[in-house]
Amino acid sequence: MIASSGLAGSVALVTGASSGIGAATARALAAEGATVALVARRLDRLEDLAREIGASGGSALTLEADVTDLAAAEYVMTRTVSEYGALDILVNNAGVMLLGPILDAPVEEWQRMVDVNLLGLLYCAKVAIPHLLDAAENGPRGAADLVNVSSVAGRVARRGSGVYNATKHAVGAFSESLRQEVTGRHVRVSLVEPGAVDTELSSHNRPEVLETIKERFADIERLHADDIAEAITYIVTRPWHVAINEILIRPTDQEQ
Ligand SMILES: NC(=O)c1ccc[n+]([C@@H]2O[C@H](COP(=O)([O-])OP(=O)(O)OC[C@H]3O[C@@H](n4cnc5c(N)ncnc54)[C@H](OP(=O)(O)O)[C@@H]3O)[C@@H](O)[C@H]2O)c1
Repeated sequence: MIASSGLAGSVALVTGASSGIGAATARALAAEGATVALVARRLDRLEDLAREIGASGGSALTLEADVTDLAAAEYVMTRTVSEYGALDILVNNAGVMLLGPILDAPVEEWQRMVDVNLLGLLYCAKVAIPHLLDAAENGPRGAADLVNVSSVAGRVARRGSGVYNATKHAVGAFSESLRQEVTGRHVRVSLVEPGAVDTELSSHNRPEVLETIKERFADIERLHADDIAEAITYIVTRPWHVAINEILIRPTDQEQ
């Protein structure tokens, strides 16, 4: 049952809500009373989640979109605002992680990561900002939130994840620059940097890469998507004068 009212009256849009961290975050924000707009390409998954949220007493809108398309990013923001009247929270979470040595990499994998992890995130931020500024100025919370999901890979580069590292480091740089630009107008820009989380993220890798990833994490109890959703919920439920700029969360077993 939707019990808490910490975000009652707020509208949150979550990209990459069809699985993993995004789906868990949408559930968690809905449980705090937010109305949630669910964005991803797999509409059937979004509809299942929207039904689940609805059955718990919440309200969700499904929006099938590819965030690498600027027009689609514009559409999901304007559709959300026209449906619900505002946008208070954007969780910029959609991402892909295609690992392996730089020397052997198919360039298409780099293009996909730059397109989704970086350009898609930038597009969504760009089209959301006017609505977030409006919510911060005129909404009841006195602040609005833009949460960018990066990674421990955005803090520490490792052999075998060069271009994923590059996209996530870029997300960190962009977030800090944008934070300085809008924090005075009460849009809080936050960076969340998970370590290994048990989701379908790594499943899109080539078989030989997948084997290496499995070996690396074989002895590690990975985080659950809900662990990250809890951190994001913490960020967006602070009083207006508290801005959580950055959270790095690793599994206890993960050394680097
Ligand atoms: N799992 C980890 O260990 C881990 C660690 C650190 C950071 N992260 C970050 O956490 C975020 C979420 O990852 P996850 O672990 O939850 O993986 P996931 O379960 O694979 O979820 C990725 C989400 O991104 C969406 N997506 C991918 N391409 C998209 C596109 N072009 N347009 C719209 N949506 C798109 C997917 O939906 P559709 O396929 O339906 O479009 C899916 O909902 C990513 O940014 C990832 O880099 C994950």
